[in-house]
Amino acid sequence: MALEADSKRHGTRGGGIDYSLALDGLAAEREQKITIDVAYRHFATPRRRFIVADAPGHEQYTRNMVTGASTAQLAVLLVDASRGLLPQTHRHTNVLSLLGVREVVLAVNKMDLVGFDAARFEAIASAYRAFATKLGLERIAAIPVCAVDGDNVVRRSERMRWYDGPALLEHLESVPLDEDRLALQPFRMPVQWVIRPDATFRGYAGTIAAGRVAPGDRVRVLPSGREATVERIVTAAGDLAEAAANRSVALTFTEALDISRGDLLCAPQSPAEVAHQFSADLVWLGDEPLLRGRDYLMKIGARTVSATVLPLRHKVNVETLEKLAAETLAMNEIGSCELELDRPMAFDPYGVNRDTGGFILIDRLTNDTVAAGMLRFALRRSANVRRQAVTVDRNARARLNAHRSAAIWLTGLSGAGKSTLANRLEARLHALGLRTYLLDGDNLRHGLNKDLGFTPADRVENIRRAGEVTRLMVDAGVIVIAAFISPYAAERRMVRALFAPGEFIEVFVDVPLEVAESRDPKGLYAKARRGEIRNFTGIDSPYERPDSPDFVIDTGALALDEAERRLFEFVEPRLK
Ligand code: ADX
Repeated sequence: MALEADSKRHGTRGGGIDYSLALDGLAAEREQKITIDVAYRHFATPRRRFIVADAPGHEQYTRNMVTGASTAQLAVLLVDASRGLLPQTHRHTNVLSLLGVREVVLAVNKMDLVGFDAARFEAIASAYRAFATKLGLERIAAIPVCAVDGDNVVRRSERMRWYDGPALLEHLESVPLDEDRLALQPFRMPVQWVIRPDATFRGYAGTIAAGRVAPGDRVRVLPSGREATVERIVTAAGDLAEAAANRSVALTFTEALDISRGDLLCAPQSPAEVAHQFSADLVWLGDEPLLRGRDYLMKIGARTVSATVLPLRHKVNVETLEKLAAETLAMNEIGSCELELDRPMAFDPYGVNRDTGGFILIDRLTNDTVAAGMLRFALRRSANVRRQAVTVDRNARARLNAHRSAAIWLTGLSGAGKSTLANRLEARLHALGLRTYLLDGDNLRHGLNKDLGFTPADRVENIRRAGEVTRLMVDAGVIVIAAFISPYAAERRMVRALFAPGEFIEVFVDVPLEVAESRDPKGLYAKARRGEIRNFTGIDSPYERPDSPDFVIDTGALALDEAERRLFEFVEPRLK
């Protein structure tokens, strides 16, 4: 990755120097189903082994660069001596700084075309240094090369005696390794596996992300905060007296502790932070844009949690690092956002440790990796906002009402009959003396949700708010009958997760599109067909059928009275 787009067009003269390099031990663990065009090659010299991540670096391929750079310890940026720094040099450098690549080599190539001129090289190198140091990149080596003839690639060039630095390969063989720097930090190890071959042995396996560990050391387990003493460091090659960053080991403890996969083991004197709200940077990789409010799966180390993107703060112009106002991120865009997790998690800022601060987001439905992210810091309110404890709780209200409350959530196409059925169901429950309330998409969109339209992002937010309102009302003791198209499975799942089991009843009002369209009570399908309304569900916007609704009702096949009776008979016993 991070090679200059331009050098690609001219071919890879000189064979293989225009790549960024991931030094030994950082084999990339690729996520499933991510179609990214990064080629990994391996080579070794007597001194070191290298993994080269070769990613096309054109503008539209930011995600390739991100994939390559996220595990790289060093990047080689290639520029032409005759052309100097280009806009993509800046773009690539910005991405490198975001992704925490510490070592950068600026290979100033085609020195032959400028007559091996030292002044020309110096001008380019110093302009680059001035720019890159502003981004916090400090370890920059500029090397003049003529790749086509091999000058300063493997051996120092006879034709550029004025240059007294190392050749590219010498430099690669001697730059400090990340693992040496990480070994000096406080101990961190995410638990990847719990090994329990029999009742007596219990080991916790993983790769040490920072620091060192030795038998007798105290270790704190996060997020629980409990502590234990290391008994043994077990490896396939036998027990170790000490192990440091990058080493894969299994630890055993003298105390029997409840430690699970995904927990973070830390040095107790300088533990990682624990939080559930963060400021983070995201590089969007998905075909579909970021949906604010949707819950994505977040993988960080060995841990998988549920994460919701709260407001996007801004997106970043990767050419200039300028911050732009934005509501969403499309593929290849980079932005800063707030993230909320469904539970507290231990982390280090990405700038400190890429393993304990870097993550990916996965779409729950397609299982696609949709973003790579970097945790920057925990939000203070994460620690300050606590739920208010209350004395009169929902059980007290249920006793007073003499019935339980619940959410009956009707989903289906426009014209499927949701509102009609909801109305009739409410009337019957009301007649029994139950407290009910009907929440309907059309109505909510006149008040609370009047700022929302029908783009995917707006629908996600529409359902998020509808779900929260429903939850409050159910908590207040009311039986809520909610009628929303709610076309996306992810948001229906999100709403369900707001409720206790049995308290949320998903009813799929299922009719074929042709039936809904032929009814067309509001004339909206006709308008959508004529192209007068955009994003109309079933026409040019998807409806994801529920996989396992609690109840399905086909108002196309059943008479309305019969549909109402069946729904009532399903719901009523569940409210007792
Ligand atoms: S949802 O998709 O966000 O759940 P919601 O149930 O609130 O939708 O609103 C759907 C209602 O809005 C429909 O019953 C219809 O009357 C109206 N409507 C207007 N434009 C559209 C559209 N593009 N797609 C679907 N419904 C629309």
